[in-house]
Order: sequence, then C-alpha cells, then structure tokens
Amino acid sequence: MKKILFVSSEVHPLIKTGGLADVAGSLPLSLAELGQDIRIFMPNYGAIKYTQDVHKKCTLQIDNRTVHILETRLPDSEVLVWLLDYPGFFGDKGNPYTDEYGHPWINSAERFTLFSRIAVEIAQNRTELDWQADIVHCNDWQSGLVPALLSIEPTRPATLFTIHNMAYQGIFSQETFQQLNLPGELWNHHALEFYGSMSFIKGGIACADHITTVSPTYALEIQTPEYGYGLDGLLFHRHNELNGIINGIDLEQWNPEKDPRIPQTYSAGRLGKKSVNKAALQQHFSLPEDADIPVIGLISRLVDQKGINLVIECLESLVDYPMQFVLLGSGNKELEHSLTNLSYLHPEQISIKIGYDEDLAHLIESGSDLFLMPSLFEPCGLNQLYSQRYGTLPIVRNTGGLADSVVDTIAETVADKTATGFVFQEATAGALLETVKRALLVYDNSKMWRQLQKNAMKKDFSWQKSAKEYIELYNTL
Ligand code: ADP
Ligand code: GLC
Repeated sequence: MKKILFVSSEVHPLIKTGGLADVAGSLPLSLAELGQDIRIFMPNYGAIKYTQDVHKKCTLQIDNRTVHILETRLPDSEVLVWLLDYPGFFGDKGNPYTDEYGHPWINSAERFTLFSRIAVEIAQNRTELDWQADIVHCNDWQSGLVPALLSIEPTRPATLFTIHNMAYQGIFSQETFQQLNLPGELWNHHALEFYGSMSFIKGGIACADHITTVSPTYALEIQTPEYGYGLDGLLFHRHNELNGIINGIDLEQWNPEKDPRIPQTYSAGRLGKKSVNKAALQQHFSLPEDADIPVIGLISRLVDQKGINLVIECLESLVDYPMQFVLLGSGNKELEHSLTNLSYLHPEQISIKIGYDEDLAHLIESGSDLFLMPSLFEPCGLNQLYSQRYGTLPIVRNTGGLADSVVDTIAETVADKTATGFVFQEATAGALLETVKRALLVYDNSKMWRQLQKNAMKKDFSWQKSAKEYIELYNTL
C-alpha cells in the first residue's frame, strides 16, 4: 500500500471545467478500492457547492500568509479531500482559471504557487495533518511547481507528473518569477526557465521522477514539434521516464442502465428504448420529432483544440443531408456566434445550446445516434468513451486518446465485431464531411448499426486496468 497525495486544480463533483475533474474525481476512487491510501488536494474555490461535511483540519503560515486546510470526502466514498482555504485567492466567483466574466485570473501565478507550496508542506509532513506521502501525483501545470520544489528538498517522496493537456502551460514572465519568491536555483533551463520565461508545466516535466500522459498515442505525439509546444525535445530526452495510461470513466455516473438523469434507461439488449431519449432530446432542442432521422450530438469546451471550425465548415454542406445536429458548449465567443448563426439559418436541423449543463450532457449522450469529436489534438477525451457506453457511435479524428479508444468501421472490424465508430485522418472539413457521410450510410443499415452499438457498449472503459497500471508505476518510483 502506498500513501499518495493526488494534486489537482479541479475535482468532480466539487468543481469541473473539463476532463481533468472527471479523472481526479474517479481515478482516486479506483486506487482506494485497490487498497491505496490516497488523499486528494485541491483549492477551496468560492464556487464549490458542498454536499458533504467540510471541516477545518489545521492552519499554517507560509510566505506571510495564513492558510487553512479543510477536509471533506468525495461523495459516497471514504476518499479524503484536503482543500487549501485562502479566500484572498480562491474565494471569489468564477471558475478555477477565469473570473466570472471569463478573463483569466490576473494572479494565476500567485494562486497556483501558493497551492503548490502547500502541497509540498503536506507531502513533507510539515503540517498538523500528520501524514507522510510516499508518492505525490501531480496533474497539469497548476501543480507543476510541486515536483520542482520537491526536487531541491534533501529527502522527499517520489513524484509523478501527469500531462492532461500540453496546450496549457502556465507561462509567466521572469519578473513574476522574482515576485513569487521561489528558490533562485529553480531559475535555470533544467527546471522552470523556458526561453526566458517561467513555465509551470516545465517544472513538472523536467523535475518529476516520472511523467505520464492520458493515452499512449498522445505520449508519442508530444515528443514531436507538432504537439510538443516547444517541450517536445525535453519530452523526447525523457522518453524512458514517460508513458501513456489511458483514462477510464466513472461507470456509476455514466451508466445507461441506471442513469437517473435520462428519461429512459436502456441496455445493449434493450436498445429500442433509446428512442425515448432521442425524442426527448429532439423536443428539448426544439427540433422536429422524428425517430428515423439520424441525430448527431456534440458536447465540448468551444476551443480550437476541439476542431469546432471543421464542424462549422462541414455543417454548411451537411444540411443537404437528412440529419439533425445538436451542440452543448461554451468558450470562444466567435465560435459561439458562428454556431448560433447556423442554427438560425437551419432551425429544422441545427440546434445549439451555449452553456454548461451536466444533465443535458447526459441527455445528449443517451439520445443522439452519433457523437462528433473531430479534435485537432486530444490527450485522451472522455466523451467518446461515454458515447460508446451509451451506444452513440463516435466520429473522431485519428489522434491521441481518440485513436486509442475508437475502432473504425471497415469490412474487417465489422466482421470481427470490433468496430465501434468512425475515424478520419486529416484535420480538414472535407475529410470530416466524408466520414459523416460514411456514417450516415451505415446508419441506414439498421442491422449493422445495432451490431456496432452493441460492440461499443460492451467495451470495458472501467478504471480497473488503468488504475493497476498507475499502482505498478508507483511501485517502481
Ligand atoms: P476536455 O477535458 O479537453 O474538455 P474531455 O473529453 O476529457 O475534454 O472532457 C470533457 C468533460 O467535460 C466531459 O465530461 C464533458 O461531458 C464535459 N463538458 C464539456 N463541456 C460541457 C458542457 N458545456 N456542459 C456539460 N458538460 C460539458
Ligand atoms: C484534458 C484533455 C482531454 C482529457 C482530459 C482528462 O482536458 O483535453 O483530452 O481527456 O484532460 O485527462
């Protein structure tokens, strides 16, 4: 059994902006079930709505600041969550990275430096929590300083840094570095310095004992200039200490047989019942209720990564085919406007909901026939996993975790019953359009479609296997 401090800036269901929260709220549960002593550490944001008891555990003084550590549990579990309570930084409205108007917090560097410093104090057992970590498992740039700060301690736990997304690096100026009062020895290109600036993510990549990413394909991709954002050389240099472990999903929350958020539960053996959700989805999105027309769903942060521009271009031609398209998402205002405009032009076929809505996400997964994920890059991606579990066939680009989790429908994979979706290569609207058209043709063959749905639904996306891989890794560190 190892004592693991799991450091994450977001944890579902306490607070979530994307897939990191899903992972931080479900992998620890699996690790605990497999006998590990795991504690999650995250900030106490003003926006968290607690459903469990929260109480103060201890107080500490760092950098002339008085901070508290609170304790709660992940709902329906014994997994302890420790929260850094410092209202001066985390008490305001907004999400972990932006204020309520969507602007990045101007003191992001200070916020996540304090967070990382306290993680180090806990890991080194220098708080009244009286718990000594064996392993500190950090996630993304917000905790990138932790491996760096620990690397200069005389004795310390082992460190693992998991990259969920190379596109977010936490880059700040040298002046900011100086203001943060961090140890000067970390200002060098083997630690935090990145072409004259300070990089949080580099702290994790350069200083952790081991690095993982959330899929094997992405682990290879980030060692190339196209996906490495200037850190590909360092990642290649460390390739012996770098590997990919694919994410699992929370099988309780994303279970079509029990999901309380959908109008009609169903299973691979009772797929006919899925049509009740489709009708509810069409109603919700004010589209004509038609059981036969294929519905394509999309749920996403609206950012460049997700290939939304390809979708917009592709939709202009797709409206000539019998299909309906529903989208739930928010982010880039230009993308929001273009999508909304398309829905005004084609109200019978395209319907858009700008916003963040977990209940609606479940309705889309359960009611759509196809799910679109044409990402330019995708470290893992979770929606294509949820979709397969819900018998909603994903259309994905051949990249990262999408490549590792969806099997394209071709003669061979149809024959051996491994096909679970539709995969395309080039990041162009043309390639996407061709693949959607291919999927629509298969949709017309209802027998084959049913078989593909069954193939997808019977796949094992539990955390079991991946959690065991993490434990094996912890044991080698
Ligand atoms: P990423 O972390 O890059 O955003 P993932 O596919 O790993 O991508 O995870 C996204 C998660 O966030 C999924 O659980 C998805 O359902 C959820 N999500 C994204 N946008 C929305 C939204 N607008 N409303 C509800 N859930 C959303
Ligand atoms: C990131 C990635 C996404 C991944 C998620 C959880 O946000 O963009 O692909 O699934 O982290 O690991």
